[in-house]
Amino acid sequence: MDNDFLKNLDTSQVREMVDSMYSKEFPAGSLVVREGEAGVHLFVSAEGDFEVIKDRKVLGHMGPGKAFGELAILYNCTRTASIRAVTESKVWMLHRKVFQQIMMRTGLQRLQDNIHFLKSVPLLQNLSNDVLAKIADVLEVEFYPAGAYIIRQGASGDSFFIISSGSVKVTQRVPGKF
Ligand code: CMP
Repeated sequence: MDNDFLKNLDTSQVREMVDSMYSKEFPAGSLVVREGEAGVHLFVSAEGDFEVIKDRKVLGHMGPGKAFGELAILYNCTRTASIRAVTESKVWMLHRKVFQQIMMRTGLQRLQDNIHFLKSVPLLQNLSNDVLAKIADVLEVEFYPAGAYIIRQGASGDSFFIISSGSVKVTQRVPGKF
């Protein structure tokens, strides 16, 4: 429940994940996840101390009860960081196929669909997966009937819009003209 993505699962999905996980032990100093590799498993730390390493820099430490390795599984990208067992450690592992089957039945699927959609927007293409995931999480769908205004010139702006389907006309009132 500490993990931003996994906390969206409902109780039955968490139970399914727990039932499908198996444990593995890692000796002190070994890599659980290697940056740049393809992701096959999602992990939850059970015992020991873990380091998050990116570009040879230690970004932080994790103790037991933390989920990691979800990014490569969710976004089909390579591992964004390495995870090293600092002490002799134990983790719970879930294969990506099982994770994805469970996800198919959850709101995480909607999140993934939103991320996929956002990645197709040229303006957002240079954003990192983390940023896209945050935007995808708060994305709201609005419907507008034909002829309705989405934005009025001069009104204060507190949202930005991405066209999902349909088309819009952009007009601007030029001072001095009707
Ligand atoms: P993934 O990219 O699959 O594999 C490495 C994991 O490290 C990643 O998923 C996240 O779970 C975790 N991770 C990546 N960046 C950070 C960070 N800055 N702080 C903590 N954990 C991270």
